[in-house]
Amino acid sequence: MAKPEKHVLVCMNSRPPGHPRGSCGSVGANEVLFKFQQELETKNLFEKAIISGSSCLGPCNLGTMVVVYPDGTWYNKVTPKDVPEIIEKHIISGQPVDRLLLPEEAWS
Ligand code: FES
Repeated sequence: MAKPEKHVLVCMNSRPPGHPRGSCGSVGANEVLFKFQQELETKNLFEKAIISGSSCLGPCNLGTMVVVYPDGTWYNKVTPKDVPEIIEKHIISGQPVDRLLLPEEAWS
């Protein structure tokens, strides 16, 4: 197996319903991870990227959070329907999907 060019992390953290911080698990992280895996398999992109579920990445109320390394590109509010666009534009063509980028203010 060749070393993948990129590593995609999908936050899979869950908190109980009503928790003030929210969580990616409560807004569909499982479906986002499944869609990434499905896209990689059907398009045979295993040399382009590997997908991993992660624990909390920080901006919990903006989930589902996705980070692409080594680029260091952070995406927020990712849904399964966004995944094909991330795959096509970013993973295959190297261009981040601007409309999904995490705003810098999220860290203040
Ligand atoms: S729960 Fe996903 S970033 Fe914290």
